[in-house]
Amino acid sequence: MAILVTGGAGFIGSHTCVELLNAGYDIVVVDNYYNSSPKSLDRVRELTGKDFKQYECDIRDSEGMDKIFKENKIDAVIHFAGLKAVGESCRKPMEYYDNNIGGTVKLCQVMRDNGCKNIVFSSSATVYGMNNVSPLKETMKAGGTTNPYGTTKYMIEIILEDICKADEEWNATLLRYFNPIGAHKSGRIGENPNGIPNNLMPYITQVAIGRLPCLSVFGNDYDTPDGTGVRDYIHVVDLADGHVKAVKNILEGKKGVQIFNLGTGKGYSVLDIINGFEKATGVKINYKIVDRRPGDIATCYSDPSKAKEVLGWEAKRDIEEMCEDSWRWQSQNPNGFED
Ligand code: NAD
Ligand code: UD1
Repeated sequence: MAILVTGGAGFIGSHTCVELLNAGYDIVVVDNYYNSSPKSLDRVRELTGKDFKQYECDIRDSEGMDKIFKENKIDAVIHFAGLKAVGESCRKPMEYYDNNIGGTVKLCQVMRDNGCKNIVFSSSATVYGMNNVSPLKETMKAGGTTNPYGTTKYMIEIILEDICKADEEWNATLLRYFNPIGAHKSGRIGENPNGIPNNLMPYITQVAIGRLPCLSVFGNDYDTPDGTGVRDYIHVVDLADGHVKAVKNILEGKKGVQIFNLGTGKGYSVLDIINGFEKATGVKINYKIVDRRPGDIATCYSDPSKAKEVLGWEAKRDIEEMCEDSWRWQSQNPNGFED
């Protein structure tokens, strides 16, 4: 019995592999290393003292994927593999629809053909769109996404719901992540974005290390306590633990479609994060206020109570720990996995 982790070499995938192995699960990892390094998986082995099979394969390569299912007894899939850059998705929509949606449909076909009908999917708070008011609840109407990346997440949710409707042997757990930051305590694995980061925390850590000169704060005229955008930042190890609980829940019996927010339920502004980072690390962040970033909303945070009630999961790590751990990873690995 094993869990197949697609995209397992990536940021959230590698942390989830550690937590799955620590919880006693056998895992098999598949990744095409488009946005990651196979070295992250060596570090997963180093951190856990456990070994596992790792395949270099694209999830759209049905023959290759079928071979993986034939060579291993896979009971459930945690599906992280996908492209995730919002700006890039606006420039290359076809690549995003092909990789994220095409890849997921092909993965599900291979799963079905091999009798594995349990999937945990990486969705995003982005599916709540622009119009719902925080705290966001799973019962709110999803949709109204504002970019191709977000639309792939929304469409994949619908596809998995339809698959479960058509065949009651299928179980799909849709996990809507809020803003994952932080890194494993050891500083051995963490987020390693290609090029200039789009997201706040990797930008801050690269300013802190001197790789980038100055953080641009996108707007201070929002209707929020200090005028800067408010988000629900969640430690990646808490998020990884949410996947362990979700896969345990799915393997314990018939579930159909289940949707959970994975967030802390607390909102922090951009200035809160800058101040929190400076306090936790003692490193000053050079920043300037600039115009709003198109497509951003003022406030986005979760109501995480359903995951607590049903999965017995809640986030435990606070902002200080998220900042300390992000910084440990960045300062010990200024060039990511090449160090
Ligand atoms: P990541 O880029 O670090 O990890 C994704 C992994 O999938 C990478 O290792 C990449 O090489 C691999 N991959 C991509 N396309 C593939 C394909 N066709 N075949 C095989 N492997 C492929 O990203 P992450 O931050 O770890 O995110 C994991 C998942 O969570 C993604 O689906 C992402 O959209 C979703 N998500 C991330 C965030 C976030 O802020 N990080 C928020 C919400 C949802
Ligand atoms: C972004 C994506 C979202 C995705 C999420 C998690 C956009 C529009 N949305 O959300 O689809 O699910 O990441 O990966 O890209 N900020 C700055 N300066 C920066 C970077 C960010 O001020 O250099 C601010 C933003 O305006 C926002 C907050 O920091 O208020 C968080 O931004 P970011 O980390 O990019 O995440 P989201 O915008 O929430």
